[in-house]
Amino acid sequence: MGRDISTDYNLFLEAIAGLMVIDKNGDLVYINDQCADYIKVDREKSIGKYITNVFPPSNMQNLLKGKNKYNTNFYFTDGRMSISTQVQLQKDDEVVGVLEYDMIQDVEALDQLLEMYATTLKEEMEYFKEQVRSFKNTKYSVDNIIGSSEKIKELKYQIELAAASNSTILICGETGTGKELVAHSIHNLSARAFHNFVKVNSAGMAESLIESELFGYEEGAFTGAKKGGKKGKFEAADQGTLFLDEINQMPMSIQPKLLRALQEGEITPVGGVEDVNVNVRIVAATNQDLSDLVSKGSFREDLYYRLNVFPIVIPPLRERLEDIPELVEARVQELNRELGKNITSIEPEVYKRLQEYDWPGNIRELHNRVEAAMNYTTGEVLKVEHFNFRVDNSRINLDAVNRFDNPIVAVKKEAERKLINEVLIKFDYNKTKSAEYLKIPRTLLYQKMKRLGIDL
Ligand SMILES: Nc1ncnc2c1ncn2[C@@H]1O[C@H](COP(=O)(O)OP(=O)(O)OP(=O)(O)O)[C@@H](O)[C@H]1O
Ligand SMILES: [Mg+2]
Repeated sequence: MGRDISTDYNLFLEAIAGLMVIDKNGDLVYINDQCADYIKVDREKSIGKYITNVFPPSNMQNLLKGKNKYNTNFYFTDGRMSISTQVQLQKDDEVVGVLEYDMIQDVEALDQLLEMYATTLKEEMEYFKEQVRSFKNTKYSVDNIIGSSEKIKELKYQIELAAASNSTILICGETGTGKELVAHSIHNLSARAFHNFVKVNSAGMAESLIESELFGYEEGAFTGAKKGGKKGKFEAADQGTLFLDEINQMPMSIQPKLLRALQEGEITPVGGVEDVNVNVRIVAATNQDLSDLVSKGSFREDLYYRLNVFPIVIPPLRERLEDIPELVEARVQELNRELGKNITSIEPEVYKRLQEYDWPGNIRELHNRVEAAMNYTTGEVLKVEHFNFRVDNSRINLDAVNRFDNPIVAVKKEAERKLINEVLIKFDYNKTKSAEYLKIPRTLLYQKMKRLGIDL
């Protein structure tokens, strides 16, 4: 049979570190042995004395007056820092005393607490940084631009200059060279970094939608218009940066309105009568030579001049093949995380082979090639055999071809199928870009894919 302790209140009271009680006059009426030992006072002799005469640093008496019912107190005794809680004691709505006990009596515990707090703070900080980043909608910074070739160094220098200016920037580069990456970097480095980065890509958008997308619309501007209207991207980017991606695809009908917005900093929402002033920094991107389009008549000359204030030309990958090792390594590390792989080294021959190719799809194509190869690896080394490097398949298997009713048609069809497949892979199955590359209309590409049995 255990001892009954249910009424052994003294046992309970002694278990509470640093326990003491004062009455409404501030005189000590209770102090447990633990506390008397801790602050080095004689328990019996202290009772009935005013608290600061017993323990000079005390401030629990302050809680007798005032509206606070609790107080957390930091105090030092003998060079040790402690944390206590003070509680107002009330009877019949009247303050009759204050009780104090220690939450932490030794510094080690306090250190732990502080460390915990610091860690939490750090985590919160990271979290908020991430939030700010996503809030600003900027995914990349200049640090994400990989490469140390002279051309990339020059590009980074141009980005810094562009960021420091407030001029309109025109980024020119082939597909997959990193135009979007550069646009984000300019914004992030600029004084507008804490405002929005807003992207508009009018390619593939119905012409009638582009205007309201850019400039917004007023209530009742057209059937289906939202109540209260809608703000356009120009307004959304106010004080920040507006990224006009694939500006070369901007329809002729919109170009004069865009020109006005750039020139005057004024826009008129669709169906609106009043102009709205906006303060927006324009960064535009094109994968076609705009001056070519001007001479062909599909781009306005005045808009071209307005955009071409500060051109930045991103070199294609084939002009900086020396960056390939760095690019591949960075991509491999990224994919290690994404695919849960653990590639720790890359056969040097891989770089050599990759540097023999001309990369029409640039970094995007390189990234895709590396990803495809990674899927074939099981070990820790990325090898040539994981890549689908072209073997000499110019020879034709005559026996196989002879089985077809019409060998010439069959071989042509197979060649077409291979070509279309390659192009689709290069452009991540983006039909618009693939069709453009093949120099055929998109609808024809669809028809061919269907006819040749290529998965849509
Ligand atoms: N120098 C670089 N270092 C690291 N990654 C890069 C670099 N350049 C491009 N990339 C990456 O390559 C991919 C394609 O880049 P991005 O989308 O910016 O190309 P783009 O020029 O806008 O192409 P498109 O004209 O097809 O839209 C992205 O994943 C981007 O992060
Ligand atoms: Mg792009």
